[in-house]
Amino acid sequence: MSNTLKAYRAAILHSLADPAEVGVENSYQYFEDGVLLVDDGRVVEVGPAERLLPKLNGVEVREYRDALITPGFIDTHIHYPQTGMIASYGEQLLDWLDTYTFPTERQFADKAHAADVAGIFLKELLRNGTTTALVFGSVHKESVDAFFEAAEKLDLRMIAGKVLMDRNAPDYLTDTAESGYADSKELIERWHGKGRLHYAVTPRFAPTSTPEQLELAGKLFAEYPDLYMHTHLSENRKEIEWVKELFPERSGYLDVYDHYRLIGQRAVFAHGVHLCDDECRRLAETGSAVAFCPTSNLFLGSGLFDLEKLEQHGVRVGLGTDVGAGTSFSQLQSLNEAYKIMQLQGKKLDPFKSLYLATLGGARALYLDHRIGNFSTGKDADFVVLDYLATPLLAYRMQQARSLEERLFALTILGDDRVVKETFAAGRSVHLRG
Ligand code: GUN
Ligand code: ZN
Repeated sequence: MSNTLKAYRAAILHSLADPAEVGVENSYQYFEDGVLLVDDGRVVEVGPAERLLPKLNGVEVREYRDALITPGFIDTHIHYPQTGMIASYGEQLLDWLDTYTFPTERQFADKAHAADVAGIFLKELLRNGTTTALVFGSVHKESVDAFFEAAEKLDLRMIAGKVLMDRNAPDYLTDTAESGYADSKELIERWHGKGRLHYAVTPRFAPTSTPEQLELAGKLFAEYPDLYMHTHLSENRKEIEWVKELFPERSGYLDVYDHYRLIGQRAVFAHGVHLCDDECRRLAETGSAVAFCPTSNLFLGSGLFDLEKLEQHGVRVGLGTDVGAGTSFSQLQSLNEAYKIMQLQGKKLDPFKSLYLATLGGARALYLDHRIGNFSTGKDADFVVLDYLATPLLAYRMQQARSLEERLFALTILGDDRVVKETFAAGRSVHLRG
């Protein structure tokens, strides 16, 4: 038996499939007293303690009481340069960008500043149990170097890219079609596929790129295997009107990206709050994904995301925090707000669907479900230990709970960073609650 084998014992829960496809009961696996076996950064096996413990002669077993082990959370849309401007008052999208976002992102021309914020940002993700994220940098290539350098040290599976933005933004924050292409290419050569890191071609959104820049972004997206494309889509009504004015020859917002070949597998569109049926169909048939960002959509007053509509069209959907428009790094808090967004539309969000969205659904949106998202043998050992007794109220609520479903739901509504007792990435502890 390998001497690096490690065993973690607690209640263990992971998703197996989308409840929308297989029904809730078949969508997860649960071990009330389970063991997760990890070796060399990978999952070896998960199963009941009763069966696995007798096989483990001599292997050290870490036991957690009143705790639930789940796969690490996946955040399919977040901006690391916006960490310091989270909770900025009073504006909807376009004014919020001008008033707060652009001046904040200007500071990332300074690599030392970028490195400081990257460290704070990654620590915050791990404190909240998020082990993989699809991340916007700033327009400066140094910002992405700083981010990847910090992520590499922790051996995290992270995806990021330099923002492409050559119009409708302050001069201090724009590149050009050519420099954006060249800088992105340099970053791809340096980082894409290094360890667990991946690169995303990242046009901010259609209004801040010229047709020339979008053309080159589409070319770049096709040039390397397994690259990502990461942008915003149909978040806010004024934004959508603006896109129509800027691209009158296109049939709609998604068609702008489609025209420039910025669509397809590994293309991730943040928000998609106001999509028509044709756009949903096109997203589904191209294998593109949408990041549902509940706390951000409410904070910026953008609108109510129609999860059922996207589900019915078969669009891949992940969950995003969209910090700094989002108000929490916690995917549990994203799920809390997601539940309310569904309620406002007369719909329900099943707690096992919530689990799926924050883990395996995110992995599928990112085409990483062969590596992360659940505890299938051979996947990366990225997991979290959630503490059912993290706060007095949660502990008291858990005393009343009669089922796993009830406990899981309460965790998603009441939980946040306080619930995350420990976070593991590639089998290594990367956060232990103080
Ligand atoms: N659309 C274009 N840029 C941004 C951004 O930074 N945040 C959000 N939420 N939407 C955007
Ligand atoms: Zn965003």
